[in-house]
Amino acid sequence: MKNIMVIGAVGQIGSELTMALREKHGSNNVVAVGRRTKPSAELRDSGPFEFGNILDKDELKALLTKYKTDTIYLMAAILSATGEQNPLLAYRVNNDGLMNVLELSRELKLEKVLIPSSIAVFGPETPRDNTPNETILKPKTMYGISKVHGELLCDYYFNKYGLDVRGLRYPGIISYKTPPGGGTTDYTVEMYRAAAEGKPYTCFVKESTTLPMMYMPDALKSIMDLAEAPLANLKHHADFNVTAMSFSAGEMAASIRKYKPDFKITYEPDFRQAIADTWPMSLDDSVATEEWGWKPDFDLDAMTKDMLENLPKVLGL
Ligand SMILES: NC(=O)c1ccc[n+]([C@@H]2O[C@H](COP(=O)([O-])OP(=O)(O)OC[C@H]3O[C@@H](n4cnc5c(N)ncnc54)[C@H](O)[C@@H]3O)[C@@H](O)[C@H]2O)c1
Repeated sequence: MKNIMVIGAVGQIGSELTMALREKHGSNNVVAVGRRTKPSAELRDSGPFEFGNILDKDELKALLTKYKTDTIYLMAAILSATGEQNPLLAYRVNNDGLMNVLELSRELKLEKVLIPSSIAVFGPETPRDNTPNETILKPKTMYGISKVHGELLCDYYFNKYGLDVRGLRYPGIISYKTPPGGGTTDYTVEMYRAAAEGKPYTCFVKESTTLPMMYMPDALKSIMDLAEAPLANLKHHADFNVTAMSFSAGEMAASIRKYKPDFKITYEPDFRQAIADTWPMSLDDSVATEEWGWKPDFDLDAMTKDMLENLPKVLGL
């Protein structure tokens, strides 16, 4: 039986990942660990819930021991935009926090650790079209720097200690249940929310800004499939490119107008434009397909339809 702990369980991905893992492995076998934000009633009441800080190693060790954890999904992080507002916090949480998790996983002999990386590992010197898995990693944000460090550390723990650490480079993740937590691709979710409310939207990147993206069901499928892949099939471990689609902010607005013809958008780029401009426009994820069968289900219009159908319920409209 699996004893899973999701750390960062109240965040955009963690909140839905916890529910998906509870569905698959049984509610009582998946402990959700939040930081300070109040969990939804669904998350709090459907299985064990704790508060914890990955910077407090003793506290984390006590939680892992209490629940006899054998598998961690580490979703706690400080994301790109918040990280540029507070680089030292991003440095500490994303590097020191990760190190605490890796060290405890080694010490307590955990079976598996899943740790997402990000397209933020790439930088302006990286080829931006169909960015390969193996390429130049010279990010310019503190978030990106910590993610490159994280990928290398995860590989180090696999090679040196045999710890089964796995991770993938998520593109922008789009979802309707939990708002995103301070990333550069947050404009996508904000745009859908405005459209669902019948409001105009002022977008913080240019109309032509094109980035790789993924809808939440595919984000959950990708990390859960990677977790299940036979270790013998993996030549990579913590640095798989994964993607589902690529579109510009303007193309996204056009997709919304197929369902909401009156939707209005203006563009006022802020500091996040400079971050977006250093990231890939599209990704080559063939390594993930070859090694563990990765294949997304949602494209832009299918996602737009699902988002606009579900957001009114979530927003109480
Ligand atoms: N959402 C995206 O578009 C995206 C894209 C690429 C990669 N990722 C990666 O996926 C993972 C999850 O991202 P997300 O979007 O759910 O992030 P999020 O910001 O929504 O959630 C992160 C959670 O971590 C928690 N946290 C922060 N500091 C902590 C600490 N010291 N101890 C414990 N918890 C702490 C926060 O309270 C928050 O709930 C992260 O590693 C992120 O880098 C996300």
